[in-house]
Order: sequence, then structure tokens, then C-alpha cells
Amino acid sequence: MTLDEKIGQLAQVNAAGGHVPDHLRDAIREGRIGSVLNEVHVDTVNEIQRLAVHESRLGIPLLIGRDVIHGFTTVFPIPLGQAASWNPTLVEEGARIAAQEAAACGVNLTFAPMIDISRDPRWGRVAESLGEDPYLTGVLGAAMIRGFQGDDLARDGSIAACAKHFAGYGASESGRDYNTTNIPENELRNVYLPPFKAAVDAGVASLMTSFSDLDGVPASANTFLLKQVLRDEWHADAMVISDWESIKQLAVHGFTENDRESAYQAATAGVDMEMASTAYADHLASLVREGRISEPTVDAMVRNVLRVKFRLGLFDNAQTDAAAYAPAANADHLHAAYNAAVASAVLLKNDDWALPLHVESLDRIAVIGPLADDPYEQLGTWIFDGDAAHSRTILQSIREFVGERATVEFARGVQTTRSRSHEHVAEAVALAARSDVVILVLGEEAILSGEAHCRADITLPGAQQGLLEAVSATGTKVVLVLMAGRPLALELAVPHASAMLYAWHPGTMGGQAISDLLFGVVSPSGKLPVTFPRVTGQIPIYYAHKHTGKPATAESFIHMEDIEPRAHQVSVGNTSFHLDAGFTPLFPFGFGLSYSHVEYEHMQCSTAVLTMTGRITISADVVNVGPRPVEEVVQLYVRDLVGDVTRPVKELKAFTRVQLARGERRHVAFTLTARDLAFYGRAQRLIVEPGRFHVWIGGSSNPELRAEFTLVDDTAR
Ligand code: BGC
Repeated sequence: MTLDEKIGQLAQVNAAGGHVPDHLRDAIREGRIGSVLNEVHVDTVNEIQRLAVHESRLGIPLLIGRDVIHGFTTVFPIPLGQAASWNPTLVEEGARIAAQEAAACGVNLTFAPMIDISRDPRWGRVAESLGEDPYLTGVLGAAMIRGFQGDDLARDGSIAACAKHFAGYGASESGRDYNTTNIPENELRNVYLPPFKAAVDAGVASLMTSFSDLDGVPASANTFLLKQVLRDEWHADAMVISDWESIKQLAVHGFTENDRESAYQAATAGVDMEMASTAYADHLASLVREGRISEPTVDAMVRNVLRVKFRLGLFDNAQTDAAAYAPAANADHLHAAYNAAVASAVLLKNDDWALPLHVESLDRIAVIGPLADDPYEQLGTWIFDGDAAHSRTILQSIREFVGERATVEFARGVQTTRSRSHEHVAEAVALAARSDVVILVLGEEAILSGEAHCRADITLPGAQQGLLEAVSATGTKVVLVLMAGRPLALELAVPHASAMLYAWHPGTMGGQAISDLLFGVVSPSGKLPVTFPRVTGQIPIYYAHKHTGKPATAESFIHMEDIEPRAHQVSVGNTSFHLDAGFTPLFPFGFGLSYSHVEYEHMQCSTAVLTMTGRITISADVVNVGPRPVEEVVQLYVRDLVGDVTRPVKELKAFTRVQLARGERRHVAFTLTARDLAFYGRAQRLIVEPGRFHVWIGGSSNPELRAEFTLVDDTAR
């Protein structure tokens, strides 16, 4: 390979449009391109590959990249919704189907999974994430990677995955996209990096660097992340790709003087491929000639790119036979999307068993709200290839389910989720007043979350709170269904609904899934993958917080309205809380109700003493004492009571799903070893410390049962 041909492999160019423009044709023939993104017309992709393989000197096929984030033609729930399923099998299946639909168009690389730990729901990209927890994100991210890549990347229907955004992007200051991140190394290692390590362990083919700077060094030029952690510590051989123009943006950050220096910094830090901008194409060759970058450095970058192409089997065949694939959005794919939408919905409130609805006892059903019958908005963010024509809306699905058994009437209430006008509220109120139940579908349109779509106030936007209150004031029972790309701050909404079902943006089959959930055809089993604040000002609020030296308790908390006028400065409890919001979330991580009631009993540890080489089994009985069958996500949390650095009050260490018939009791056991208790200490090395641990089993991060064990060092001489 000539130096220019090597540098060509490092270029990824945008090529949407369904045809091959002359400049692209020439660039491919001349070996100046290693990858294109955003071309999804299979004939065009095949032509692009033909040019690369047959008309360039070396015949190297191309990577064809696309954001296949939560489905392709068939849209699955947004990733945050999928995370609420706590179901790696479903998540893997969704990615598998997305990969097949994308591969049929010639796509061989997706920019997913996004595994940025997200503890700030103001950030629009929380929608794309798998939530706030490193362990859950790691497990589900690895499942997505398995789904996209299959056992063998060379097999038809497998596409290369890309773990993004490496690293720390989720900590964007004030939840404003692209903003600076400042994460102490210890927190980075204990919270933000573990999902990426899990992705590397799952064999992810590539990683994408983040737009953001981390402690002053942009991720796309971050030697610590890309060399020390990724290559030296983790021994990853995955390809590293920049984010869109993020190499060029190094100069915009004020980190480099110009594009040439940006190319230098990114290449020496370890970014193999440049997305969209041309700093490498324009400057790498002269940097090598000048001796500032060595040719072996470029060789290593090229090798990382070519390895992905080899793994994909592209050198054997780069052409796509679309006819060999099952049609997109076929019945099986839609069924899988339906299952995922069912599993992702979280029942947040259900007073007096308001749900499920019994159609026999209803004459008039009101369906109200701007998202009740919108085939597009229910799909959520990042649906470049999604087709709303396949969508099943809530209204449509309820009408089909109910048939002649009751009257179903619809009112939009407000024009969009953002409209401030109350013009149509009266009509919705009149409908509510003459109905037996209101199914009110509120939330956020798709465009209010996702990249660059952040909010400073995450309450229900527009006139929706007013609509909710007006409808609820009729006295008719209100079932509130929420579709949104983030946790909303719903403290003011809760009192006005008898039941609340959080559906995220549920995708193509969302309407049918929700209708079936509301009428009890299926039961809710989702659990929150992220903490729901009461008010925006509580952010960041997450379950795995530190204890602090002055932890708040129910006894120490005083609301500001209860403080006497002119009270002395030390009148309040001197513990860590907000005077106006307390210290607890509205709904905790891991929480979700069902149509039954589960109790936990008889928690046991197999031993009181765990050795460094031993194992401990922690178990409990899970009993379905409610009226219906249930699928429960049983969760295990641990607290390391004393650490070399302060440790979170709880950390998720394991979970499993159990299906219980009415009255059924099941013994559920988890096994831990010392490795599961490892963390990064002050020296930023992974350590396992002897000492006392609390352990909980339950159905949320406020678990019912607690036990204790001690870890002893039996290896010390
Ligand atoms: C996003 C990436 C995405 C890329 C390509 C960027 O703006 O940050 O997540 O994969 O665009 O579309």
C-alpha cells in the first residue's frame, strides 16, 4: 500500500443520496476512501463496493456505516425503553433484526450501541442510552453487540457494532449536548468506563470517540482513553472512529491551532478513522513525510480498519443480495418489536387496581392527547430508516381491541406536546366528562430528545399539565400513558392520574403494545433503568450515590414550609437534602409495578464469610401474592461499607427475570465472587478489599430484604 492508499482507508465520507456522484466515484477508484456512511440504497451500495473492489488498485471493500440505533425499518423502543425491559434476550433479538434489515441494504457497520452512562435526563441523548447504571448498561450493551454482530461477523445479516461515545459524554455539563465533561479519574473508571470494557469483552468491532472534552482533553485526542485505557489496559483491537467532524472540532475546542494539528493530535492519540471531516486526508501524508507521525503509526491505524473488513468477510464478498433477506417489517419483526414495546413499558402508579381496564364494564372510553394517534412521534429519535406507515397507534389499537363492545372517542386536547394553546382543552374535557375512563396520552414528541435536543426543564411541555388537570377535574378516572425520550419530572402530574404507564417512545408496535397492556391482554414488567426526579433541580439524582458524611434521613428532613420564621441557622437537620424537594426521587431506579403483587421472603447468604477465591450464594423466595401471573425482575444490590475510596450506597450486581403464576413461590439465587466486588481505588487500580458488605434482594433499588457478609483475604501470607 502506498502512504496515500493507507490514508485513504482512514477516511469515512458522507454519501447519502441514492446515487454515486462523480467526485465519490473518483475518490473510491483512487483508493482515497475507506468507508462511507448514510448510503442505504442497496443498488448504490453495491455500485460503491463494485468500484472499490474492481476499479481501485488494491480492491479493498468499504465499510458502509449507518446509525441503526433502535431498529431499521421496524422501529423498536428507544434504547432507554429497551433498557427498561431488563431483558438481554429481547435486546439482543431487537439488534439482530435491525442488523438484518440494515444488512439487506448493504449496511455493514452501525453506530450503536450508545453506552454512555446518563445521569442527567435534561440531556437529549439519554434517550439513546441504556440508563444510569454501569452494570445494567454493560449487560444490555453486550447483548446489543451480540445481536448486531452475531457469532460471526462474516455471516449474512451480521453488521459491525460501534460502542459509543468513548468516553464520558453523558456527563455533559448541565445536560446540554456537546458540553464539557469533568469527571474525576476514579469516577470515570468506576462508573463511565465499565460498559465500554464490557463491550470490548463482547468483541465489539469498533468504538466511537465522544464530541466532548474530558477534563480539558477532547475525547478525540485523548491519549489516556485511547492508548492507556483502551489499548494498554484492555488490549482492545477494535477500530476507533471519530464522531462527526470531531477531529476537525479539536481546533474549535481550542485544543489545537488548526486542522493539521488536529490530525496530528487525533492520530497520535489513537483515532483510526475520521468521520466526515478531512483533516487526515489533507494533512496526514505531510505529517508523515515531515517525520512527526511515523509510518508504523499509520500502519497500525490501517490495520485496525482492515481487521474489521476482514472480520466482516468483505474481501470474500462485498456485494449485497437483498433478495436473500426476509423483507423488512415482516410479521416476525413486527412481533419482536411488539414484545419489546410490551416489555419496556413501566407501570409507575396503579391506585386501586385502576389497571387493567375491563372492557365489559366500560361503555364510553375517551382517548385524549397529542400522542395517542401519531404514527410518527411514537417512533422516537434516530429513526432515519423507520417507516411510520407500519406504526400501530394507541387509538387505532384500542379501537380494534374494543370493537363494538364500547364507544371509543378521541380528542387531541392540545395540538402538539409543545403547544401552549388551551383552545382544544374544553373539547377534551367535555369528552372526559361523558366517558367512563380517560386514556390520556401525553409526553414529548420525538424531536424533544435525541442529539442536540436537550431541555432545561423536564416537566411535561406546553399546555399538557393544564390539560391533565382539567381532564382529571371532571372526576372521570384518568389513566395516564406517557411517551417520552427521557424521564420527565412528573411530581405535579402524579396526583391527577389513577394509573401511570411510562411507555418511552415505544416504536412501530407501541400502540398495540400499550393497548394490550391497558386492557390486561399482557402485563407490565418493565423496571426503570434510570431514576425519576421529582423536580428538575434534583438532577443529578441516581440510586448509586455516595453516602456523604451527613446522609439525609426521613427524620432529619424538614420542608422549608415547616421552618419557623426567623429560625436559627441550625434549625434544619444538617443533612444532605433540598429544602424544597427532599432527597428521594419520585420513582427510584429499578422500580416498576405489575398487575400482581410480589413479596420477597427468607433472604439467605450461603456463608457469612466470603474468601477471595470462594463464592457466596445469596438467595430469597419470591412470591406472587397478587391476583394475576407476573414477570418480576429480581435485583441484587451490594454496598461495600468501608472503602479505599468512598463507595456508593448501593450497586446493582445481578438481576434475573422470573415468571410466577398466581400464588407461586420461587427460590431465586445469585452467586457472587470477590471479583464482583472489585472497584478502582485511590491508585486507580482495580482492587478487592476485605471488609463488610451489605447485600439486598428485591424488586427495585429500594429492596425489601437485606443481609450481610464479610470478605476476608485468605490469600495473604
Ligand atoms: C453523533 C453520533 C452518530 C454520528 C453519525 C453524530 O452527530 O454524535 O452518535 O453516530 O453523528 O450520524
